[in-house]
Amino acid sequence: MQRGSLIKEGKAKSLYETDEPGLIWVEYMDQATALNGKRKHHIAGKGVVNNKIDTILFNYLISEGIKTDYVETLSDTVQINKSVKIIPLEVIVRNYASGSLQKKFNLPYLQKLNQTVISYCYKSDELDDPVINASEALGLGFIQPGDSERIQELTLQINDLLIERFAQANLQLVDFKLEFGKLPNGEIILADEISPDNCRLVDLTTKESLDKDVFRKSTGDLVTVYEEVLKRLEQSEEKAHV
Ligand SMILES: Nc1ncnc2c1ncn2[C@@H]1O[C@H](COP(=O)(O)OP(=O)(O)OP(=O)(O)O)[C@@H](O)[C@H]1O
Ligand SMILES: [Mg+2]
Repeated sequence: MQRGSLIKEGKAKSLYETDEPGLIWVEYMDQATALNGKRKHHIAGKGVVNNKIDTILFNYLISEGIKTDYVETLSDTVQINKSVKIIPLEVIVRNYASGSLQKKFNLPYLQKLNQTVISYCYKSDELDDPVINASEALGLGFIQPGDSERIQELTLQINDLLIERFAQANLQLVDFKLEFGKLPNGEIILADEISPDNCRLVDLTTKESLDKDVFRKSTGDLVTVYEEVLKRLEQSEEKAHV
């Protein structure tokens, strides 16, 4: 597969055309941002570890019947994905109170929520990814009728699968962000990435943070923590396969 011209340089990944129609070349970069890109740092080794974690999790979801944009991992930093039209919503999924929800309702950290909470932000760096509801997203033409219901259904399935997979690695999935895209035939599939950049993970036993919170709060070395997540996923993968 040949890398073609640059389509988009994001904060974490660069997308390029390939010589095959419908497929894109996704390069995981050594970059971390916080506060919607206002704080940007070069972080050696982050691209490799996120690519590996994402590869494990997408292969797992595919093996459980979830349709995704993942095609193959070409190297330490490169994946081939299906090109989709990204639905411009960040789908935020919460199982325990943390972050903005914890703050908004003054909840105890990691309080278990009675049911999974799904909310949306409109993907716009310019507007700082504002919170949006399904009615607004429909009214503004960001989604079509039926999309929100399908996104919710897929999100709940993916959440159940990820909770279980992370638990095998002794990790608690507190909350995370997903992106979905549409194939040319209109089908909605899981896209983008799942990595500690967009998941809140804590050790199931000690509740120690193992995610981007160590970077947001400057409490630890990001790559060391991400490598710990990768190691646990790899070890539990070996166990799952014997
Ligand atoms: N399969 C795909 N097809 C097309 N675009 C994709 C696909 N998967 C992810 N993208 C998009 O690739 C871009 C680059 O990813 P990256 O994570 O670096 O973005 P980002 O800086 O977080 O930007 P954004 O605010 O747009 O999410 C994002 O806009 C993301 O939505
Ligand atoms: Mg991103």
